[in-house]
Amino acid sequence: MRLSSFVLLAVLAVSSANPMGRRAMTVHESVAAVPSGFVHAGSVSPSQEITLRIALAQSDIAGLQEKTYAVSDPANALYGQHLTVDEVGKFVRPTSVTVSEVSEWLSENGITAKNVSPAGDLLQITVPVSKANTLLGTQFSAFKHVASGKTSIRTLSYSIPASLQQHIQFVHPTVAFIPPLHLPSVNAIAVKREVVVEERAAPTSNAVPASCATVANTSCIQQIYNFPTAKANNSAQNVLGVAGYIDEFANFADLALFLQNLRPDLVGSNFTVVEIDDGENDQTQQNAGIEADLDIEMTVGLAGGVPTTFISVGEDNIDDADGFIDIVNSILATPAETRPTVLTTSYGFNEEDLPLSLAVAMCNAYMQLGAVGISVLFSSGDGGVGGVQPTECTTFVPSAPGGCPFITSVGGSTGVPPQVAASLSGGGFSNFFPTPDYQAGDVAAYIASIGDQYAGLYNTSGRGMPDVALQALNVEIAWMGSFWLVGGTSCASPIFAAMIALVNDRLLAAGRAPLGFLNPFLYSPAGRAAFTDVISGTNPGCNTDGFSAGPGWDPVTGLGTPDFNRLLTAVGL
Ligand SMILES: *[C@@H]1O[C@H](CO)[C@@H](O)[C@H](O)[C@H]1NC(C)=O
Ligand SMILES: *[C@@H]1O[C@H](CO)[C@@H](O)[C@H](O)[C@H]1NC(C)=O
Ligand SMILES: *[C@@H]1O[C@H](CO)[C@@H](O)[C@H](O)[C@H]1NC(C)=O
Ligand SMILES: *[C@@H]1O[C@H](CO)[C@@H](O)[C@H](O)[C@H]1NC(C)=O
Repeated sequence: MRLSSFVLLAVLAVSSANPMGRRAMTVHESVAAVPSGFVHAGSVSPSQEITLRIALAQSDIAGLQEKTYAVSDPANALYGQHLTVDEVGKFVRPTSVTVSEVSEWLSENGITAKNVSPAGDLLQITVPVSKANTLLGTQFSAFKHVASGKTSIRTLSYSIPASLQQHIQFVHPTVAFIPPLHLPSVNAIAVKREVVVEERAAPTSNAVPASCATVANTSCIQQIYNFPTAKANNSAQNVLGVAGYIDEFANFADLALFLQNLRPDLVGSNFTVVEIDDGENDQTQQNAGIEADLDIEMTVGLAGGVPTTFISVGEDNIDDADGFIDIVNSILATPAETRPTVLTTSYGFNEEDLPLSLAVAMCNAYMQLGAVGISVLFSSGDGGVGGVQPTECTTFVPSAPGGCPFITSVGGSTGVPPQVAASLSGGGFSNFFPTPDYQAGDVAAYIASIGDQYAGLYNTSGRGMPDVALQALNVEIAWMGSFWLVGGTSCASPIFAAMIALVNDRLLAAGRAPLGFLNPFLYSPAGRAAFTDVISGTNPGCNTDGFSAGPGWDPVTGLGTPDFNRLLTAVGL
């Protein structure tokens, strides 16, 4: 009797130490079916190792949001009083309870995690698939992205202990089926141009020549938006950041050729390269990236005198989101003096291809950049209402991260003033993020103006995009040693970034703060007065004519096209 009862006690003790026996699990994220474009590709060996990141709950993201809006809203007493990275860290750092609860769960499973983010809100574990299956109450298997042939280990659903739901944002990559980031559709046409060696004078006239409608060279773009021809003084350090992905390399020789022909007054201007996530800086001419060359030429070539940094993001991503969050952590870790005040990105996703949890994490990362005074710009996509690229669709496809309210989404326009919408201009309404206050009146007015046209095809309570529009067709660039005309909102975002960098140059020279998160300013009465409303054109897609540009904000060209001089007036310079 004694012996058996002793045995019984021992069994009880073992069972209470068994994590699966003790912790009630609950499904944390799931997808209903294998997303289109992917197929199930068999099981994976239980001993194969898998690396997962656990995003912990951040201690006060609502507090950071409130602070970010306060320092970015010209009507607020705190306007321009950006936070330090340390101050931001206090909001995003997980609480000690979160950290200890999650590590206790992992240690019960014999797992030690590594902290991989500056604020300690991202943990990384590497375990055999069998252990990951037990930990997350799931069955990982192989899935193939059909178009690229790329295989990854994923699952359709995973669970975490119910008691940890408030402490864990998500475990990644689990239910994320993100198609490989593809090159934005820069449509290139080679142009014949006599390569010049002698210096040319900068443009002096204000009238925009009619020929700018077919070839938008740098001087056309300067004249259309009233860019200053004088170089920035850069009396306070003011860096312009250009994001590069998927082995797109910006070429020094192409920039030199471009400047020599199109901005002779800027010959000798250059850019520096920062590499993250194993990114590279390949200067072989045939490896010059058309997107990277375009982005660097539009920034260096328009923001004359502003130091420009090309951030080459490789494929060794900690975030498993193509580096879109890693670049933020890298910038936050850069000393304030060399950190960009503007970051432009001409790559993106369709929102539906990202799990909501990851899209929210990205957006919260961009909010951190805004909080410390960095303007974050993304091109709005080239597929009209169909998203990043023209695609088959039955409902409109919002692009990402354009739906994030903390970024400025840049759409496309074209022609000599008055400009019209570029028909490729990505625009619409997010399904992930609600309409932010700063554009609520504009979005409501637009939706009221179209009545029930397209009802059911788009989300009437979503964040509207784009915010602004700039030249997106027939832009002349140098690439692989010759000249091309390219199109896409990929042109528009770096052009606007250059303009914001030049405004920041003057603000800093006047002892003021840089613009930071732009939208509350852009949509303010002073800010919107700096824009010329684009009132004609549409952005077709999904077998429809798309939305129409019209008086006021619209989901084709946003508030319209900027004017540099009016922007200076708007900021009181
Ligand atoms: C840029 O375009 C304008 C208008 O077509 C033209 O007058 C000018 O010569 C061009 N500049 C260069 C450097 O090609
Ligand atoms: C640079 O400084 C000079 C002299 O103060 C001034 O005239 C010029 O307008 C400044 N340029 C810019 C771009 O602010
Ligand atoms: C730009 O910088 C790179 C790297 O330092 C250098 O190789 C290149 O010659 C520079 N270009 C010019 C025009 O100074
Ligand atoms: C529409 O947007 C709202 C606000 O972001 C969101 O809560 C809702 O789920 C979206 N609807 C659909 C069908 O995606």
